[in-house]
Amino acid sequence: MSISHSSNRSKQELKNRINSAKLSWLSTIGSDGFPNVSPKEIFRAIDNDTIIIANIASPKSEKNIRKHDKVCLSLIDIFVQKGCKIYAEAVIVDPSSDSYIAYKTELEQMTNGDYPIKNIFRLKVIKVQNILAPSYSIKPNESVEEKIEKAMQYYGVKPLK
Ligand SMILES: Cc1cc2nc3c(=O)[nH]c(=O)nc-3n(C[C@H](O)[C@H](O)[C@H](O)COP(=O)(O)O)c2cc1C
Repeated sequence: MSISHSSNRSKQELKNRINSAKLSWLSTIGSDGFPNVSPKEIFRAIDNDTIIIANIASPKSEKNIRKHDKVCLSLIDIFVQKGCKIYAEAVIVDPSSDSYIAYKTELEQMTNGDYPIKNIFRLKVIKVQNILAPSYSIKPNESVEEKIEKAMQYYGVKPLK
């Protein structure tokens, strides 16, 4: 398997990287063998090894995690054109669990409690693999600022000021 082991550096940075990301993609393993990938916005890293995700409307992810604990969470900063794949083992934290209220409180800070949380997916980070857009190797002299500007054009986003 060509998964690089996470370096201490990338693990130390992980909490900040996760908590500054807006969108993640959670991949789980289906009983039919197909990967199941679905978007998640309500997630937090509570430390460099633990990520919690609100299960608001993710029945298939929940079903899959209950059968296969191996998951992959992917994050990308579309402007900087960098991200990572986080390989993890997941468990479902149900409302009856001792940790539930603390996790729910953390996640509800992102939603103001507007979206009922059914239960929480808790991911234990096993490995991290960085993702870099090809431009980092193909255009090594292009600055990050130039990449951001190009990505903003590509996505049709204007700077705030
Ligand atoms: C941008 C976006 C963010 C979402 N964030 C979440 C989330 O944080 N938690 C959740 O349970 N569902 C979230 N959803 C909804 C699920 O991704 C959606 O219901 C999906 O079909 C669930 O599929 P699954 O059961 O295979 O996980 C989000 C959907 C979108 C489009």
